[in-house]
Amino acid sequence: MKRSTTRSSDVHARDVQAIDVPSTEVHPTDHRSTEARIDTTREWDRIAGHWDEQVGDGSDFQRLLVYPSTDRMLDAQADWRVLDACCGNGNYARRLGRLGCRVTAFDGSHEMIERAKARTKPSDGVIEYHVADATDEAAVRWLGEGRSFDAVVCSMALMDLVEIAPVFRAVRSMLRPAGAFVFSIGHPSFHTNESVKWATQVDGEGSASQTFGCLVTRYLTDWPHASRGLLDQPEPHTLFHRSLSTVLRSAFEAGFVVDGMEEPAFPPDTRLRSPFSWARRPEIPPVMVVRCRAPMMCSADRE
Ligand SMILES: C[S@@+](CC[C@H](N)C(=O)[O-])C[C@H]1O[C@@H](n2cnc3c(N)ncnc32)[C@H](O)[C@@H]1O
Repeated sequence: MKRSTTRSSDVHARDVQAIDVPSTEVHPTDHRSTEARIDTTREWDRIAGHWDEQVGDGSDFQRLLVYPSTDRMLDAQADWRVLDACCGNGNYARRLGRLGCRVTAFDGSHEMIERAKARTKPSDGVIEYHVADATDEAAVRWLGEGRSFDAVVCSMALMDLVEIAPVFRAVRSMLRPAGAFVFSIGHPSFHTNESVKWATQVDGEGSASQTFGCLVTRYLTDWPHASRGLLDQPEPHTLFHRSLSTVLRSAFEAGFVVDGMEEPAFPPDTRLRSPFSWARRPEIPPVMVVRCRAPMMCSADRE
């Protein structure tokens, strides 16, 4: 792999800069179907501004569902070196930076990284931002050259990737032994590309009862789908549905074991929302947070 840029060492938030990580000469997606060649990073470039304005330093979805489980399972310590893969506008990277971690954060969208840099203040700590494609194993590995990470996080982004095996392999090679890789995804059993949210109201004698649920008609088959994560998103982006076994197969094949999992749902006091909000469905987790570990003394450690 040719390097046209040098990687900066830890950069204080005041000096953050985006660095293009050169891609390998043969892109790993070249041999795959036309459908699989969708460039999600360009899609995200086009919606980055809207996403950043709406989500800011954390949407309700992130603050109430994703962050608490991720914080618990990552259990990040000050001084840890942590990689935030597909960091978006950097909201979780800044959370880690404020904790005292030395953070390397990357995203495939230049526009997202520009937003992340713009939002990052000196008080957010030590954060180094890069532009890199998570489906390009060599490009991700490059971020770990000459160093290893105590932990890696990938928040609500694996379902945005055309393929996920490369990022699992790259992360596995960059983690210290027993280090944790915590990822969150839309729960594939409920929050699928085609799940239908339903709401009913029955007006009884002097009372009315409301029920909120969701209907899933397709789960096992992997398929891409034009989606709007935010209802008023100016244009859709592609989401790739994968069953649980498909997601975890990539983790196992990369040499990870899974030692933690949470399925957070909205707490009951957030119910006063649209009938189509997940907050009306406190028994149905729209998110799954998984902790993978690089085991000590596995053959991959000795490679
Ligand atoms: C739903 S957002 C999540 C962002 C952030 N992790 C968060 O929790 O706010 C998905 C992110 O994946 C990024 N992404 C999509 N395809 C990518 C790729 N091939 N490589 C790296 N990042 C990618 C998008 O640019 C976007 O920032």
